[in-house]
Amino acid sequence: MTERVGVIGAGYVGLTSAACFTHLGHEVVCVDNDRSKVDELGRGEVTIAEPGLTELVRDGLSCGRLRFTTDGRELSDVDVVLLCLPTPKGKDGDPDVRVLEEVVATLPGLLAPGCVVVTKSTVPVGTGTRLAELLGRPDLPVVSNPEFLREGHAVEDFLNPDRIVIGSVPENRAAAERVAALYGETNAPLWFTDPASAELAKYASNAFLALKVSYVNVLAELCEHYGADIRDVGRLMGLDSRIGPAFLVPGPGWGGSCLPKDTAALLRTAEHAGVDFGILRDAMKANARQRAAVVRKIRRAITGVSDGSLSGIRIGLLGLAFKAGTGDLRDSPALAVARELARSGAVLTAYDPGVETVEPDIVQVVDDPYLVAKDAAALVVLTEWPEFRELDWERLAAATERAVVVDARNLLDPAAVAEAGFTHTGLGTDPNRRTR
Ligand code: UGA
Repeated sequence: MTERVGVIGAGYVGLTSAACFTHLGHEVVCVDNDRSKVDELGRGEVTIAEPGLTELVRDGLSCGRLRFTTDGRELSDVDVVLLCLPTPKGKDGDPDVRVLEEVVATLPGLLAPGCVVVTKSTVPVGTGTRLAELLGRPDLPVVSNPEFLREGHAVEDFLNPDRIVIGSVPENRAAAERVAALYGETNAPLWFTDPASAELAKYASNAFLALKVSYVNVLAELCEHYGADIRDVGRLMGLDSRIGPAFLVPGPGWGGSCLPKDTAALLRTAEHAGVDFGILRDAMKANARQRAAVVRKIRRAITGVSDGSLSGIRIGLLGLAFKAGTGDLRDSPALAVARELARSGAVLTAYDPGVETVEPDIVQVVDDPYLVAKDAAALVVLTEWPEFRELDWERLAAATERAVVVDARNLLDPAAVAEAGFTHTGLGTDPNRRTR
């Protein structure tokens, strides 16, 4: 059934939801208070780099079922309104819900009776109850429907989710089913639960992913000590169907706009409840240590000792974004490593397929990976872009001053880069065991 859907917030969650629900046949109005963004989107100009998103937005505009506005009054006839607003990290790690609450306070004057109010962006446990109080209108049911989109895969994840989670109080079950029906025919497990479970499931998932990465990062350190290879250990763990192979690749740490914020938020939620969730604190500490460990590894690869001076040394960086497939630099471990190297006096050049520029006093960003190698004492892979594997490593070796590569993502084939002339260092791999 076609519904009239309102979306508040045209960030990556809101815009993806608006474009995908239009694609699924609904009539969507997307409200954002940024006039220039609304104008751009109205012309079909999408600045968020998500595969397939521009096409869906343009299709929606041209069939007339998707429109963008700054005027909240256009929500007066919607059946469902999705709240896709930021909940950034606030004081002491608690999520800052002020924007959300300010917007919700305006809704009673805008929405028609029966309109379902849906929290889509990540909100702290208890928000559903709090919003119902703030709305003060029992005829506006509140439903939680958290998103689990990955940056760089948002459209794909929206249209083929692992699960669809819908949380509501029992009295709002009909509203919850109406929200579920927005997704149409889907193979994804549809799970109805209470609001707190839906809200907590989102934080629990992101924090668990963070734990998994911290676990493998510490394990990589242990592998180095005992001459084991984390690539084998990770693969063998991943073959256990209870563990699964994803998120077992070591790197400079977990980052981005979600995992750090949500892990800190879950820890705070536990503290408020008097529950000791110390393993989250440990995962956060391990994550902070990981960036420093990568810097030490780079120092050692270049100078022979882990505290050697990098003053005036040229280093080429492959990758700056927090992960491959995006140009997002928010809480990027790669950028944190770059900052630390710059602070130590290294002269940095970087190439990242998704990044055009960063603060020029830290690193000069170039648009050609071979320029990064020019006269460098080392190349460092900091983001796991698959195309880095396909570079002409002999050409890179010839351009460097010293053919040294530190692969902080275990992305490269060590044998192939060694054959191209590089001395290779990965994370948690013993060079003497390298037979592949
Ligand atoms: C994350 C979750 O994966 C999504 O399910 C969730 O919807 C989203 O947050 C959100 O809350 O909006 P995202 O922030 O796009 O998605 O990033 P991830 O793909 O989870 O990667 C997080 C970090 O872990 C990156 O820095 C990545 O490089 C790192 N990572 C990941 C590793 O170091 N090793 C791995 O094996 C996997």
